[in-house]
Amino acid sequence: MSERCLLEKVFALCARRGIIIPTAEIYGGLSGFFEYGPVGLRIKQKLLNLWRKWFVDPYDNIVEIEGSIVLPEKVFEASGHLEKFVDPITQCKKCGTIYRADHLIEELLGANVEGKSEEELTKIMRENNLRCPKCKGELSDVKVFNLMLKTNISPVVGNIAYLRPETAQNIFINFRRLYTACRLKLPCGIAQIGFSFRNEISPRQFLIRLRGFTQAEIELFYDPENEECKLEEISDVKLPILTREEQIKGTYKVNEFTPKELIEKKIAFSKWQVYYLAREFLFFTQELKIPKDRIRIRHLLPEETAHYSKGNFDVEIYYDGEIGWREVVGNAYRTDYDLSRHSEFSNEDLSVDVDNRKIIPHVTEPSFGIDRILLALLMLNYHDKNEDRQWCWLSLPIKLSPYIAGVFPLVSKDDLPRKAREIYEMLKEEFGKDVFYDEKGSIGRRYARADEIGVPFCITIDYQTLEDNTVTLRSRDTREQVRVKVEELKDVIRNLCKG
Ligand code: GAP
Repeated sequence: MSERCLLEKVFALCARRGIIIPTAEIYGGLSGFFEYGPVGLRIKQKLLNLWRKWFVDPYDNIVEIEGSIVLPEKVFEASGHLEKFVDPITQCKKCGTIYRADHLIEELLGANVEGKSEEELTKIMRENNLRCPKCKGELSDVKVFNLMLKTNISPVVGNIAYLRPETAQNIFINFRRLYTACRLKLPCGIAQIGFSFRNEISPRQFLIRLRGFTQAEIELFYDPENEECKLEEISDVKLPILTREEQIKGTYKVNEFTPKELIEKKIAFSKWQVYYLAREFLFFTQELKIPKDRIRIRHLLPEETAHYSKGNFDVEIYYDGEIGWREVVGNAYRTDYDLSRHSEFSNEDLSVDVDNRKIIPHVTEPSFGIDRILLALLMLNYHDKNEDRQWCWLSLPIKLSPYIAGVFPLVSKDDLPRKAREIYEMLKEEFGKDVFYDEKGSIGRRYARADEIGVPFCITIDYQTLEDNTVTLRSRDTREQVRVKVEELKDVIRNLCKG
């Protein structure tokens, strides 16, 4: 049997431990949808809390909302998603398999056909006599397929609505209300964490291409004539940029630029956009501990840039040889596109007054894909079993570990479970659900179970505990064990968490 790739191993671990589970698994699953079990949800919530800590909490002028997942058709007519949020598809006339035409051409011919029309793609397919990779059947002409999931509201036929393909639209349509109600002033931001849905043609690679996924987005509104952006706060950050030139040349060399250089060299046009690029780079490297050489910021080519954007930079992470580099955060300079369009389609004035000028604010948008980031954390921190450790384990940073510590009686007899529960209750008062209790199976099995889900510490209550009120504290990373006095345990754990 061939060696399983990293993604398969992580997938298997997630399924076995109920970390992330295929949706409707007992009915054969629902392609492109997954559910988070208790452990996965704890990791995800910690990731989201860190995101808030970095991108919302420090800013007085950023508010957070939770909007409706279902939005009326008019919203997407205005946003342009109805017309432009489409992928080109082709179907095998023999076996019925549907392919994304541009991806198929890229795969089979190695050519970049991003942004080409249906007619152009059909022509390329015909000229190169491309056939279905599965059965060699004839492929249909290319047509476009809208990626939004459609629904009908109420029994009234034709009352069409869509599941939002990005959380951003709730923010734009609520802008005026929130600007007034929250007494906002430019520059200001509206953040939102929530589900988005895209009817992807071929969902794949576990959490990489999903049909339902979590986004964490900020729309940062500002006056383009006076951005009031504090670039000096992040002026010394060196950003690993993959420029358009490097991509066109095919050399793909990453070069370092400071935020100021990106503006001065006219690579980027929004100071707020480069501010966010720097904050994101620091977030990934300092907080999530993603190695610097696994991160790059790619300037998208014009033909890849979304219809609403005047310039996009994707933060990409290198997952492994199989998946390669993948976008985890999209950064779009949306200008006044969305507010202007919603003004036009709703007949509502969405401008604001700035120094006696009426302006439609410009917008820069960092858009984080939470599931992809979580998958990167799982893959980059996954360690296979080896001679030393006979089980796989996750070296998640403590702040992202589902639990800080497990409390175990060495054996479940004599007075040890009672004492262990007493210590567990004491720790629970301080750390809540960040500690858990387990007395099932051998102590070795319990250490293995804790390591597998990335628990950094295990506390074992043994016979010596009954004599001198000390416990062993085991480190996941070094597997070293030290004895700690019970009365000092809370402080020790708190300090270890602080690093
Ligand atoms: N509002 C802008 C926007 O949605 P995007 O680049 O299409 O921009 C932002 O998406 C992020 O959402 C991506 O960087 C990615 O991490 C995540 N994402 C997009 N499509 C996804 C999918 N099908 N499955 C999982 N994550 C996805």
